[in-house]
Amino acid sequence: MGNYERTILVTGGAGFIGSHVVRRFVNKFPSYKIVNLDALTYAGNLENLADIQQASNYIFEKGDITHESFINTLFEKYKFDSVIHLAAESHVDRSINDPLSFVKTNVLGTATLLNACRTSWKNNLINKIFYHVSTDEVYGTLGSDGYFTEETCYDPRSPYSASKAASDHLVMAYHHTYHLPVIISNCSNNYGSHHFPEKLIPLMINNIKNNKPLPVYGKGENVRDWLWVEDHVSAIDIIFHRGRQGETYNIGGLNEWRNIDLVKLLVRIMDKKLNRPEGTSEKLITFVADRPGHDLRYAIDPKKLTTELGWKPSVTFQEGLEKTVDWYLANDEWVKHVTSGDYQQYYDQQYKKKT
Ligand code: NAD
Ligand code: DAU
Repeated sequence: MGNYERTILVTGGAGFIGSHVVRRFVNKFPSYKIVNLDALTYAGNLENLADIQQASNYIFEKGDITHESFINTLFEKYKFDSVIHLAAESHVDRSINDPLSFVKTNVLGTATLLNACRTSWKNNLINKIFYHVSTDEVYGTLGSDGYFTEETCYDPRSPYSASKAASDHLVMAYHHTYHLPVIISNCSNNYGSHHFPEKLIPLMINNIKNNKPLPVYGKGENVRDWLWVEDHVSAIDIIFHRGRQGETYNIGGLNEWRNIDLVKLLVRIMDKKLNRPEGTSEKLITFVADRPGHDLRYAIDPKKLTTELGWKPSVTFQEGLEKTVDWYLANDEWVKHVTSGDYQQYYDQQYKKKT
């Protein structure tokens, strides 16, 4: 197996952001051993990592972060010095339908991992780090102006964001109580390849391609701050290596869009790529019942990250969206695989009740 400089547990590495984290760390740091732990829920897919599954510094373990004895055994087996924790239930609409599974995975799962670190690292905290990947949704919602900073008070308003907020608090509680070395980052909305098509951008791409209605919640006036997934992952890399312990870093690229304007931009990009006359797919836009408790606006002030650690995004939104659309158009099989089975049932239930 060889000697590795670090042995890192990445949780949720078969999901959207996690698979980009795993790929970057496996390829960029051959002296790190990366163990990807994922329960392979509907959102986890090993196809996302087909290109690196044979790498000598990569290992996959299937398992659930809420299973205490399994997690403790894993820590004994690998003697991790770091954890990058992404595993979560991540979709707001699903949290409205089934809040308890979000509490279980996001709260109990995070606590189980923290406790395993506390036990495993109790005699030596040097060179250890628990990196918790969190969301800007913990801060609640903004009106038409202002930004979320690291000092903004937590005010989560959906079962998803409340469960993420609770997990953030547990991370900080373990830091203050047990001196566990931790870092949290809170990022804005991501988009990019391998994004499960229940979320706005991949859902719209898939529906435009298949000439299906484009369900915009409410009046489409809610605002999200979009970041290309690779830019989130480059921030995680920088924060993991150079961030200060016990600190929170907000990640965002100052890229706010009203949902309706974003959908219209996507429609224009896709009509061009699909050789459809301009305006063809815009006719598919359908306003549907709003999401209960729908947060109006998210916007991140990334100053701490940009000034302290020198991070900045690498692409414009237009470039990132074009790359994303190209990926989806070239990876029809991936889309077919993830949208077969349970997805269809979810889609029918979610959108039948809205129209
Ligand atoms: P995702 O739903 O695509 O992936 C989640 C992964 O976690 C899946 O592979 C799933 O199988 C795994 N998982 C779920 N429950 C598990 C369990 N009990 N045990 C082990 N594995 C389990 O999510 P994502 O969009 O990639 O988000 C990853 C993380 O980043 C989450 O913590 C999310 O809160 C956070 N985040 C996401 C965004 C975004 O825009 N997607 C933005 C900021 C923060
Ligand atoms: O801000 C970070 C968060 O971004 C992450 O923590 C979450 O894991 C991630 O899912 C995302 O949450 P959102 O709720 O903002 O993303 P979603 O893609 O579900 O929705 C984006 C916006 O689009 C939101 O205002 C709701 C709206 N929407 C969504 C869907 C799925 C629609 O109008 N129609 C839709 O069909």
